[in-house]
Amino acid sequence: MIITKKMGVLVVASCLMLLTAACGGSTPTGSSTAAPTTNAGATTAPAAPAAAKKISLGFAQVGAESGWRTANTKSVQDSAKEAGFDLKFSDAQQKQENQIKAIRTYIQQKVDVIAFSPVVESGWDTVLKEAKDAKIPVILTDRAVDSKDTSLYVTFIGSDFVEEGKKAGKWVADKYKDAKEDVNIVELQGTTGSAPANDRKAGFAEEIKGNAHLKVIASQTGDFTRAKGKEVMQAFLKAHKDIDVLYAHNDDMALGAIQAIEAAGLKPGQDITIISVDAVKDGMTAASEGKINFIVECNPLLGPQLMQAVNDVIAGKQIEKRIVTKEGVFTSEDAKKVLADRQY
Ligand code: AHR
Repeated sequence: MIITKKMGVLVVASCLMLLTAACGGSTPTGSSTAAPTTNAGATTAPAAPAAAKKISLGFAQVGAESGWRTANTKSVQDSAKEAGFDLKFSDAQQKQENQIKAIRTYIQQKVDVIAFSPVVESGWDTVLKEAKDAKIPVILTDRAVDSKDTSLYVTFIGSDFVEEGKKAGKWVADKYKDAKEDVNIVELQGTTGSAPANDRKAGFAEEIKGNAHLKVIASQTGDFTRAKGKEVMQAFLKAHKDIDVLYAHNDDMALGAIQAIEAAGLKPGQDITIISVDAVKDGMTAASEGKINFIVECNPLLGPQLMQAVNDVIAGKQIEKRIVTKEGVFTSEDAKKVLADRQY
């Protein structure tokens, strides 16, 4: 039923595009007001493109908590524009209730597809059921939900966060494999209850558990923000005089922590080994300066894959239930080499 309705949208849109092409006009892209573009010399806008129904996509973003999120938002907005979709975008300011409200608004507006990056993993079943009842397909991007009923969403596009935590843990385990004394690790977790915080913690713990000298002596949330990362690191430094390693679940928290470490008269990357996740430009800059020793990449440029998935869903194509983003890792030396070409 969903597919039939959406395919109808496509057919109507395609017919109008053909009609427009036949008239010598061009289809407008990226404008939700459908203002038609004109060929050189044309004085009046052709009527057909203005009437063409664009695919509408409601996107409920987590917030603007980090450099990663800013790059992700830009990727979604730019790609939607390029695809010619009518994007309805909302920023939930890291609050689940705001995301739920936004999704309900998109349901009322009868958008063609809803996409969102769930701030936390739990508590989505009711609203996802409402979308399903309204026959609006939902695509998860970046973060997962823990719903048992996987029919509530079409696909989940994003990173493997457990794998990211494992990459970080493996690097630490390798670096300290010959340690004869305890290595004291502090951990700055992402937003409590979020998939990246849960999974990066679990993946890291899995990799270091084989070496009894690797001890996580403190672990607290820094909510993925620079300010919180700094604040929590200050508290860690006050409570523990012998921190060897900081594992931050994202670059922004690591960058905040670096400020706290420097203010305490210590050298980040030397007195305290720092590992983080994301590889955004500011994080890579700190890595190239030797202040972060190792960064696990988390790619925020999910927009093109999302728009492809929207098109596929509307066209009634079968799409993978899980689309995993490919990512790398960077030492300080690697960061120096690639920094100039970093897109985000
Ligand atoms: O969900 C992805 C995470 O969210 C990024 O690692 C972090 O920087 C962001 O806020």
